[in-house]
Amino acid sequence: MLAAGEGTRMRSSRPKVLHPIAGEPLINHVLAAVGAAAAGSDVAVVIGPGADAVGEAVRARLPQTDIFVQAERRGTGHAVLAARPALERGAQDVLIVYGDTPLISPQTLAGLRESLAAGAAVVVLGFRPPDPTGYGRLLIDGDQLRGIREEKDATAAERAITLCNAGLMGLSGNAALEILDAITDDNAKREFYLTDAVAIARSKGLMTVAREITDNSEVLGVNTQAELAQTEAIMQQRLRKTALDAGVTMVAPETVFLCADTKLGRDVVIEPFVVFGPGVTVEEGATIRSFCHFEQAIIRRGAIVGPYSRLRPGADIGPDAHIGNFVEVKAATVEAGAKANHLSYIGNARVGERANVGAGTITCNYDGAGKYHTDIGKGAFIGSNSSLVAPVKIGDGAYIGSGSVITKEVPAEGLAVARGRQLIKEGWVKRWRERVKAAKK
Ligand code: UD1
Ligand code: MG
Repeated sequence: MLAAGEGTRMRSSRPKVLHPIAGEPLINHVLAAVGAAAAGSDVAVVIGPGADAVGEAVRARLPQTDIFVQAERRGTGHAVLAARPALERGAQDVLIVYGDTPLISPQTLAGLRESLAAGAAVVVLGFRPPDPTGYGRLLIDGDQLRGIREEKDATAAERAITLCNAGLMGLSGNAALEILDAITDDNAKREFYLTDAVAIARSKGLMTVAREITDNSEVLGVNTQAELAQTEAIMQQRLRKTALDAGVTMVAPETVFLCADTKLGRDVVIEPFVVFGPGVTVEEGATIRSFCHFEQAIIRRGAIVGPYSRLRPGADIGPDAHIGNFVEVKAATVEAGAKANHLSYIGNARVGERANVGAGTITCNYDGAGKYHTDIGKGAFIGSNSSLVAPVKIGDGAYIGSGSVITKEVPAEGLAVARGRQLIKEGWVKRWRERVKAAKK
């Protein structure tokens, strides 16, 4: 996998292949496609000097990956040979993919492997871009690929060819090193062109073929922020389609944003304008109402969440529980059938089965230094606008009077009221008005 690009045009301090789409770095999407097309295969990634963060990110995902640094940029052929030790170990097939081309499908990669299995020494992915300028052109002879001509080296007649090199390539393992080692920099750019692999293989009497893809988005490379956004949009369309095909209901799928790892069960209903961050699972039959934002959370069977709910890491919303408008849940378990329907913050907490958390309830979990736990028992009833100052425990079935600030444990079935007492002064307003009138005179 070539990932030595500098990504200058992204105008970002983040390495290009670590920019995310659908919640995952670009390079992870490529790793996923490779994993699906060739399970268990060895992966070698070629990075640029100083791109250690890329290597670390890849190893975090796939620990056994070999990372090689291409010290000098001397062309795509040179970049591939930066992984020489991996090539020397030998392989059945060698696939060359790009870390900044995240929409490549496992099917396309599997297709390259099929051609190799059918006897090709080199297989190249061809496509027809709306504007071929800048791409290498595929020189086709019947069903054989004769060569690839880079734009700068092409004749006018060759430039008129519309079938272009997408960049991805497959090499048969037993010929790969021999072919790559024969590449020279004898060309207009004085670079080692990977594309020369085709002519070299042919000169050795080996079979070389092209496979044309019809969905150009698969080979869309990311070089700019605009292309990143375009790639994200295509990825979102794919993820939405997968969800719809799996039985999720979305009335306006184009307004729902998913992550590559979002898990949605059957009969989940998602209303318009919902954003799924990484690590979210929604189980069968749950309903997500409009304008929610989720990250690392689980919503269990039959729960109803939203509109306007925010679930942060560690939120676990139990079966048939309800989380309503302007409720934020973080590192908290809301057990089966419990409700927090309005204007609450529930953090570092357990809300027991069928408990009712009234409007405006806040778990005061943070004192500026540490985080503390609030435990709300089964069937407890928290009156509106209460503050539960953690660490604190509310027993099963206990009641909290509205507006209370609870700092001590409340026993099961007990009532706690912790607020100023109400005072009534009969006729006070009338007396006050008379006093004001007298003062004016
Ligand atoms: C390459 C192909 C061209 C094809 C096009 C598709 C060659 C010689 N040409 O051209 O036929 O149509 O891709 O997009 O292969 N890279 C390195 N190290 C290097 C040089 C490149 O890692 O020394 C990486 C780049 O970061 C990039 C990829 O390889 O991710 C392709 O390199 P690029 O310079 O974009 O090649 P093109 O001229 O576009
Ligand atoms: Mg390019």
